[in-house]
Amino acid sequence: MDTDTSTEINSAVDIVTARQRGRSLALELGFNGADVTLIAAAISEVARNIVDHAKKGEILMTSLAVGSNGTGKRGIQIIARDEGPGIRDVAQAMQYGYSTRKGLGVGLPGAKWLMDEFDIASELGRGTTITMKKWKR
Ligand SMILES: Nc1ncnc2c1ncn2[C@@H]1O[C@H](COP(=O)(O)OP(=O)(O)OP(=O)(O)O)[C@@H](O)[C@H]1O
Ligand SMILES: [Mg+2]
Repeated sequence: MDTDTSTEINSAVDIVTARQRGRSLALELGFNGADVTLIAAAISEVARNIVDHAKKGEILMTSLAVGSNGTGKRGIQIIARDEGPGIRDVAQAMQYGYSTRKGLGVGLPGAKWLMDEFDIASELGRGTTITMKKWKR
């Protein structure tokens, strides 16, 4: 399905755009209202981290289909990537309450909790790529 979208993240207004596009795509894919809200919240957190910690980056959203003939899983994939400073210790950054600025430190663990799959690849000085998936129930 041709549902790929890319949203440039440069400022706070772009967070709203990414969240709205995520909502639309999730609705289009047939997620229930509760899941649409969870997906939008997870997008919001990773987009906000781009603005807060990397200044700019992008969010890519795609529909997922595994298997065929209606037997397979369907879902949504969100990739948030930037070429910002990167994360020195990813395990530490994933801990609830850990923040390098005065945040609550709940963004990353929250996003992981809201989605079914969550992966971070980050390299100091190179940037960060977060890949998250949620499957339809
Ligand atoms: N895209 C990113 N680039 C560089 N560092 C990041 C990025 N995203 C998160 N981090 C690092 O991981 C830490 C934890 O992120 P998290 O979103 O959990 O908390 P926060 O952004 O500090 O606060 P909150 O999201 O609760 O307002 C951040 O403080 C920051 O050091
Ligand atoms: Mg955050």
